[in-house]
Amino acid sequence: MAYYSRLVGCGSYLPEKLLTNDDLAKIVDTSDEWISERTGIKQRYIAAEGQLTSDLAREAALKALDYAGVKASDLDLIVLGTTTPDDTFPATAVKLQAQLGMTGGAAFDLQAVCSGFIYALSVVDSMVRAGQAKTALVIGAETMSRILDWEDRGTCVLFGDGAGAVVVRAENGIGENEPRRNLRRGILSTHIHSDGNYRDILICSGGVSSTGQAGVIKMAGKEVFRHAVNNLTDVVLEALAANNLAAADIDWLVPHQANQRILESTRRKLGLDANKVVLTIDKHANTSAASIPLALDTAVRDGRIQEGDLVLMEAMGGGLTWGAALARW
Ligand code: UT7
Repeated sequence: MAYYSRLVGCGSYLPEKLLTNDDLAKIVDTSDEWISERTGIKQRYIAAEGQLTSDLAREAALKALDYAGVKASDLDLIVLGTTTPDDTFPATAVKLQAQLGMTGGAAFDLQAVCSGFIYALSVVDSMVRAGQAKTALVIGAETMSRILDWEDRGTCVLFGDGAGAVVVRAENGIGENEPRRNLRRGILSTHIHSDGNYRDILICSGGVSSTGQAGVIKMAGKEVFRHAVNNLTDVVLEALAANNLAAADIDWLVPHQANQRILESTRRKLGLDANKVVLTIDKHANTSAASIPLALDTAVRDGRIQEGDLVLMEAMGGGLTWGAALARW
């Protein structure tokens, strides 16, 4: 039996507390003008004290399950992309598994920082195609505010908190080698990469084994920027080539929201219209693994992304890690 992954629902959640650029200018030496011009960010949401990554993930997951009409008891897999887990162990995903009332199957976290959602989607798609999972939740959830150095204006203005989720269901009938394969609704292909030689240019300064503390984000911004533009262009072209599709076939680019200038550069290299790019960076800032499912959910619920639309998702983050996923909604 040839299985493939159908995307049957999505959901997202943002915490209540809003922090504008002007609010930040009262904390560090920055301005709305600098942040808007260099990044496209206007505001971000910050988790309340005591509000954990699992709390954000649960809200997004419940909305995605509701959208899909799937009960938590029907799930047999949760993969949660996060770099800000509730505890060192066990995985935030197993806490969620218990909270949702899912008793069977498996749940685990996946660490690929800002590429976490693409990586999680890739792992889930592989497991679905291998017949190892039938109904899965793929989540990106982060409380990035907990690992920011609020005195470092070069990083603290960039990130926000939030969560997004999709429900994936195994379908059968269209095998990898069938001619109309790229017309099927669901994941067409995923592509993931990493290069640990660049691990120091975007890093959290602590860890269980090294310092016993979580640490804070340190970034060589310009260098990361340069790698992002090159790696994202390469992986997007790789995804299109793998499906015999051209950039003109894409209905929506749903990118990781790190910097509007990075998104613009990928868009221009692909020759895509600006109105085909889902932009949420102005409102959400960089929510790491949560940014793609947050943007996807926004565009599905406001009616931009319609059934049958071809959606290209891409991300790059610490590792360096990067990847893309091509799907028909
Ligand atoms: O999601 C994971 C992947 N992450 C990314 O893809 C992020 C990639 N990098 C970036 O988005 C950009 O490099 C940043 C937005 C982080 C920085 O933009 P930039 O244009 O590369 O600025 P820069 O770091 O070269 O800094 C330019 C100037 C510096 O001042 P001098 O040395 O020219 O006097 C900084 O000190 O801007 C200064 N600066 C700020 N000024 C006001 C840095 N941060 C701020 C700030 N407010 N928040």
